[in-house]
Amino acid sequence: MSIALHAFEEDRAPAGRLAALLDTPLSLVQTHTFPDGECLPRVPKAMPTTLVYRSLDRPNAKLVELLLAADAWRRIGVRRLVLVAPYLPYMRQDKVFSEGEPVSQRVVAGLLDSAFDRIVTVDPHLHRTKSLASLFNHAECTVVRGGDALIPFLRSSPFAAGSLIVGPDAESEQWARYVAEGLGLRHGVLAKQRRGDRDVVLSVPPGLEVHGAPVLLVDDICSTGATLAAAIRTLKAAGAKTIAVFVTHGLWTDAAIGYLRSAGADWIAASDSCNQPAEEVPLAKVLAAALRNEI
Ligand code: R5P
Repeated sequence: MSIALHAFEEDRAPAGRLAALLDTPLSLVQTHTFPDGECLPRVPKAMPTTLVYRSLDRPNAKLVELLLAADAWRRIGVRRLVLVAPYLPYMRQDKVFSEGEPVSQRVVAGLLDSAFDRIVTVDPHLHRTKSLASLFNHAECTVVRGGDALIPFLRSSPFAAGSLIVGPDAESEQWARYVAEGLGLRHGVLAKQRRGDRDVVLSVPPGLEVHGAPVLLVDDICSTGATLAAAIRTLKAAGAKTIAVFVTHGLWTDAAIGYLRSAGADWIAASDSCNQPAEEVPLAKVLAAALRNEI
């Protein structure tokens, strides 16, 4: 065995699926939490090249624990430390929107850059930033597409045939187009105006023919569900026949899934990048393909 694969307890299931495909045993990091809330990770025996699986949804505590663990891996001789973080956090704050704010995307990328030699992630939310690599000075970056896991999954499901693929806003055009091209289907995006964290207004732009179509809504992230619930309502009002939803990263804050169901979603799925209760589309195969060169 030439590499080690380590993970934290909450990622045991998706990391285990990856370990099986890489034919590598999975070892778990143990973490002690002190009464004052500080954490002390203890990493298992490692190899000179060690892969670390840690998705960084709900990121604040996870990031600190991960950076401490990275120090521990270096101290026991790991020379190449590869982070497999299917969800990369803080990517949406890619500029100062109002005076007094940080550019969180750069701060978080800088922390990971200082600790890891390679970052493998899935559909990072890059809007104004042209490439993930431009955020890192040292670490190599590999971006895996959630669509590559979704497309084969959809081919054997009832949700693709004849569907119109729709992104809820201009930023989601890249994900919608990728899935549509992979399945040979037409796609379009809605027009979105965000008025607050949980308040968005959407409309169907002229030329996007929705009436009578089964629709597959595709986006990179669902957090509160405000965007997708508004999209579902807008598409239903425009005459969509059925509405299926796929997001790469189901953060499902608030009661997002219930919110989407009551808006009228017929099927809701997400990749297994975050621990979540929707139907799961596993990423293990596409992640394993990206990691083959480490073995
Ligand atoms: C933003 O541009 C993202 O792609 C998602 O549309 C957004 O993060 C979803 O957030 P929420 O579910 O809270 O509307």
